[in-house]
Amino acid sequence: MSPSAASATIGAKEASDPAYVSVRGIHAYYNESYIVQGVSFDIREGEIVALLGRNGAGKTSTLRTLARVDNPALRQGEIWLDQKPLHQMKAFEAAQSGIGLVPEDRRIISGLTVEENLQLAQIAPPKGWSIERVYELFPRLAERRRQDGVTMSGGEQQMLAIARALVRDVKLLLLDEPYEGLAPVIVQEIEKTLQQIKGLSMTTIIVEQNAIAALNLADRAIILDMGQIVFDGTATEVLENAELRQEYLAI
Ligand SMILES: Nc1ncnc2c1ncn2[C@@H]1O[C@H](COP(=O)(O)OP(=O)(O)OP(=O)(O)O)[C@@H](O)[C@H]1O
Ligand SMILES: [Mg+2]
Repeated sequence: MSPSAASATIGAKEASDPAYVSVRGIHAYYNESYIVQGVSFDIREGEIVALLGRNGAGKTSTLRTLARVDNPALRQGEIWLDQKPLHQMKAFEAAQSGIGLVPEDRRIISGLTVEENLQLAQIAPPKGWSIERVYELFPRLAERRRQDGVTMSGGEQQMLAIARALVRDVKLLLLDEPYEGLAPVIVQEIEKTLQQIKGLSMTTIIVEQNAIAALNLADRAIILDMGQIVFDGTATEVLENAELRQEYLAI
């Protein structure tokens, strides 16, 4: 479905409002490697979008492009977040404008405690949640506040990576495979937390190999294949469409 068809389904007043997140024809490259090939979508405030697709489809590259990190390089297109032109920004400016990328490898800083990792994330304004509020959401992190972050379990490190985004003033949370490498019981724990974050209307894009888990959380699904969008619709439509799942998600 085209993005314009998707937006035609929302109310007339909303359709004339600028979208909270608007991605317009972005093209991104690793050197001469053309990876993100004209991706466009809109996201409403508070919406959770699952960005799905096979290995190598371009999911991580799309998130990295939105966060304006150096690679892949954005060569064409526009990225708007709450009316700010991220396409004109460097990564640190995009972060200050509210992009919060939680990368797959979590990037917990070694030699720093849990609390120091959180404090460091708060150094640059604008501030988001207080550390106390984060500890209420993640009691496990409160218990471990004096522990070196990298000595925690994978699930705890994922909580810290998400928490680090929340203590900044994040308007669009980008989660790259938050369940990766985690035991099912830990996945459930992270899922519960993400449901709580969903209850707070945090606009989120979640990339997951565990497509079913992502679809259970998400309102909407976008499927990428070879750097292009092949589906944009509701999460329920994907859950109910076996053919689509088979073709693009192999589930
Ligand atoms: N740093 C890089 N330099 C060159 N090519 C890259 C780089 N990173 C990724 N690619 C290529 O870009 C394409 C998309 O990769 P990307 O990591 O975005 O896929 P993905 O959908 O996140 O896959 P996965 O599900 O395996 O994480 C792949 O063909 C990959 O080989
Ligand atoms: Mg990836």
